[in-house]
Amino acid sequence: MKNLIIAIDGTAASGKSTTAKILAKKLGILPIDTGAMYRAVTLKALRLGIPIENREAIEELARHTEITQKLVEGTVRTFLDGVDVTEDIRSPEVDKAVSLVSSYAGVRKRLVELQRKMAEQGNVVLEGRDIGTVVLPDAPLKIYMDASLEERARRRLGDLKKKGANPTLEEVMEELRRRDEFDSKREIAPLKRADDAIYIDTTRLTVEEQVSIILKEVEKRFGGDDP
Ligand code: DC
Repeated sequence: MKNLIIAIDGTAASGKSTTAKILAKKLGILPIDTGAMYRAVTLKALRLGIPIENREAIEELARHTEITQKLVEGTVRTFLDGVDVTEDIRSPEVDKAVSLVSSYAGVRKRLVELQRKMAEQGNVVLEGRDIGTVVLPDAPLKIYMDASLEERARRRLGDLKKKGANPTLEEVMEELRRRDEFDSKREIAPLKRADDAIYIDTTRLTVEEQVSIILKEVEKRFGGDDP
C-alpha cells in the first residue's frame, strides 16, 4: 500500500483515539494522539504552578518543551521532556485546563510544528481537532467523528469508573459540552469538519464497525499491497 496518511478529527470522547489505535495496528502504521500533546503542556504548566490564564508564560513554556510519542505494546505513550506522563495527563485538573491552554497561538504553533515533523515520514494516523483543517490539510484521507453528547459521556464515564473515579453522568456531559463549545469557538484552528472529511456518527456504531468503515476507505484510496 502507498504511503498512508490518515487525519481523524472530532468531538471529545467520540472514539477517535480508540479508532486510531486499532487502525494503526491493523495497517502497521503509527498512531499520533495530538490531544495528548496539548494535555502534556497543560500538565507541565500546572506542575510548575503557572496560572493557566497567563498566556505569555505558557506560550514561552511550550517553546521549551519536548513532547514525543512512542508505541509501547500497542498503546501510544506520551513523553514530556523525556518522562512518561501517559496516565498523568488524563487527570480532571488537566481536563479542565486543556481547552484554554490549547487556544493559545504560541502553544499551537509549537505543537503543530512537532506534529508535522512526526507525520513527515508518512504511514501515520493523526487524531485531534484540526488535523484535516490545519496540521495536514492535504491528507489524502480525512475522517470527522462525532456521537451524541449522552453517548460520549456514557463511554467516558465507563473509562473513568475503571480508573476508580466516580462522577455522575451529568457532570461528565457538562465537562464534554463545555470543552467542545470552547474548542469549536476559539479563534485559531477551531474544531471543525474539513469540507473533504468523511463524517462518521458513532452513536450507534461499535468500535469494530467504525474501524471497518475507515478500512474500506483506506482500501479505496490507497489500495494495493501493505505499506
Ligand atoms: O482529544 P483530547 O480530549 O485528549 O484533547 C484535549 C484537548 O486538546 C481538546 O479539548 C482540545 C485540544 N486539542 C486541540 O486543540 N487540537 C488538537 N489537534 C487536539 C486536541
